[in-house]
Amino acid sequence: MVIKQILAFAAAVVASLVVSAQGSEFEFYKLSLIWPSSVCFSTPQNCISPIPRIFTIHGLWPTLKNGTALPPYDPVDNNCNLSPVAPGDIVAKLTSIRARLQTKWPNLIKGNRPNPDELFWQIEWSHHGMCSDYPQDPLPYFTSALNLAESDKYDPLKVLGVAPSSTPHPIDTLLENVKKNVGFYPQISCSRPIKGSNQLYLREVRLCFKRAMPPSALQNCPDDMDDVCRSVPPLDRNVMFPLPITTSSVHNVSWELMASA
Ligand SMILES: *[C@@H]1O[C@H](CO)[C@@H](O)[C@H](O)[C@H]1NC(C)=O
Ligand SMILES: *[C@@H]1O[C@H](CO)[C@@H](O)[C@H](O)[C@H]1NC(C)=O
Repeated sequence: MVIKQILAFAAAVVASLVVSAQGSEFEFYKLSLIWPSSVCFSTPQNCISPIPRIFTIHGLWPTLKNGTALPPYDPVDNNCNLSPVAPGDIVAKLTSIRARLQTKWPNLIKGNRPNPDELFWQIEWSHHGMCSDYPQDPLPYFTSALNLAESDKYDPLKVLGVAPSSTPHPIDTLLENVKKNVGFYPQISCSRPIKGSNQLYLREVRLCFKRAMPPSALQNCPDDMDDVCRSVPPLDRNVMFPLPITTSSVHNVSWELMASA
């Protein structure tokens, strides 16, 4: 009986080590930066006011070699690290960078829950931080994302090579501009906020950093655009990088569609 228990315990330990090794075998970090006016374009009234006119952070994601994000931490199915800090415990550890987080890593959607920013940070922590190299250290995890995102040399407003405007740009132009300005290809993430229209909007610019603590050396992103960008034929991949909007912006979409039809 005792031997059986010991064997079962040993098997469980081995299994957890195997899972843990697989879970942490990610290749690089993806820093995802959002253009708020694209995210808020179709329902600006649901967004915080004022809508930020800077690129804000979506997240810093441990990513597999093929470009797929690691699955979220799960104590049973993805026990990638032993005893990571629980999402409910991170906010108290982030007080020294709280003001920076609120400016650069806000929850753009107002919602009706208290502290939407904290909720967003907790979600990012549980989806990406707990399986990062910092499972016990939310402060350096969030700080390293802030340090990268606050740096002028990675600011999409500087490195995209085009300013927000009312005319779209070929997605390849944006990719090549970033490559020229930072030396490596980003990943571009698109949205299609206008119902019934193929018009792509620039939702996020994602930069890929070699796995390190802290991440600091860029590399190419393996996958230069997401599935939404790819959902339109290559020749139609012209991306709108819209001018800043406000929460009271009205997009008279049906008229725009009629006018372009
Ligand atoms: C990437 O690799 C992971 C792990 O090997 C696999 O589960 C996933 O399906 C792959 N994704 C793609 C898009 O190939
Ligand atoms: C949309 O714009 C057109 C042209 O300015 C106007 O005639 C129409 O009434 C507007 N529709 C709405 C719902 O505001």
